[in-house]
Amino acid sequence: MTDAVTLVVFGATGHLSRTKLLPALARVIRDEDVPTHAVVGVGSRSRSDEDFRSVVADSMASEEVDSDAADRFLGGEFTYVSVSDKESYERLASIIDAVEESAGLPGNRILYLAIPPSKLDVTVEGISDAGLGAGAGWTRLVVEKPFGIDLDSAVASNEIIHRSFSESEVYRIDHFLGKETVRNLLVFRFTNSLFEQTWNRRHIESVEITVAESDGLDGRAAYFDESGTVRDMVQNHLTQILTLIAMEPPVRMNAASIHTEKVKVLKAVRPIGPDDAVLGRYAAGSVEAEEVIGYLDEPGVPPHSETPTYAALRLYVDNWRWHGVPFYLRTGKRLAKRVSEVTVRYLKPPVCLFHSEGNCQGHQNVLTLTLQPDEGFELLFDVKQPGPDTSIGQIPLAVRYDDILKSAPQAYETLLADVIEGDQTLFVRADEVEEAWELYQTLLDRTDIDTYTAGTDGPERAESLIVSYPGVWTPL
Ligand code: BG6
Repeated sequence: MTDAVTLVVFGATGHLSRTKLLPALARVIRDEDVPTHAVVGVGSRSRSDEDFRSVVADSMASEEVDSDAADRFLGGEFTYVSVSDKESYERLASIIDAVEESAGLPGNRILYLAIPPSKLDVTVEGISDAGLGAGAGWTRLVVEKPFGIDLDSAVASNEIIHRSFSESEVYRIDHFLGKETVRNLLVFRFTNSLFEQTWNRRHIESVEITVAESDGLDGRAAYFDESGTVRDMVQNHLTQILTLIAMEPPVRMNAASIHTEKVKVLKAVRPIGPDDAVLGRYAAGSVEAEEVIGYLDEPGVPPHSETPTYAALRLYVDNWRWHGVPFYLRTGKRLAKRVSEVTVRYLKPPVCLFHSEGNCQGHQNVLTLTLQPDEGFELLFDVKQPGPDTSIGQIPLAVRYDDILKSAPQAYETLLADVIEGDQTLFVRADEVEEAWELYQTLLDRTDIDTYTAGTDGPERAESLIVSYPGVWTPL
């Protein structure tokens, strides 16, 4: 059994809360056996407590939370407070005190900020001025991604947060870090000496990281058009995968050691030049046999929007392990299919011993780590084709995690359980988030955005980034 908690959720009725956070909280409260809880929803619009509770109840139904978890969660106390000015934050503080007293809670507070970056500073200041972080127990401040909109804003937000919270109380969320397959990257690398021995520039020709989505905006035009793909996906999700693939073995498997190694990777990435990135925006097309409209026609998107929905990049990690190895990163909405994977291409042997009609036979070894949806990994290697000739073919050695992953928790459940337990390993440290912004700063204002047809693999110009064999992105 863990500590009893007061969950104070800012942006409590927003899209993220309804679709991910509240259902995950319900499961975690049950699975972690949290003895007592109360939920205080906070937002800018006014709502009654009853109204809030029914939003929460609906979110349980739409995410298919099992009735046991939903009943237990809804059995807690639910209160809703709208905030706008200093007085309203003070009112929020006294309401939280009153809720804790009436529910017999010890004052352990999770302040969860499921709000856009534009509201972060003002919310943290409101929280600090009203003393919300000074409960009778521990306080943990959870901040959703993107953390800031660029380097300056991230530095400023960190500074404002650190005025009232120590770094050990801050949990910057990137939900990809809670995915089982992303967590598995470190286990895969650091327990299988087979791979780690070859995980460097002497054996690897290139690494490709793809997070492709077939979905469009999913009703989030207002948020997405302000953010765009670089802020929404590249600065966080893809960069986190990059650091886990490229980092050195940490001294220990704890938050401080892992964060330190990840920061070193980010510091080693060569500045991104104009020819190292291609941005794109989808036009109308057909995705998985369904006609879809283009980005500029999506409801809520301004007709002259300059927001990219796709990004492809070529990065170099200039350290001893990786010097000269291109890391290709690609993500986009309304692409041909939904898949997140890491493709590691090994160098061919130095001498070609098998020829056929003057051509060297043999292929690269290719390791593909599929993060979603068909989680697993595949290693392509060469074998002799049966028969009198020496003809070489490539066959896969493939493993699907289906069986072991069946009961795996969702990313948000894993991360919320870690917040309750006070484990920061799967969260992003202040200097890490700043390094990541610094890296992509030059991409944020780019207005050269190619068009791609929805349902394809993205803009053709993205092929120009590939400088290693086979000279094309892995087809989606
Ligand atoms: C979110 C982004 O962080 O991640 C979304 O804001 C994106 O735009 C989503 O669709 C992808 O996450 P998942 O877990 O559905 O792959």
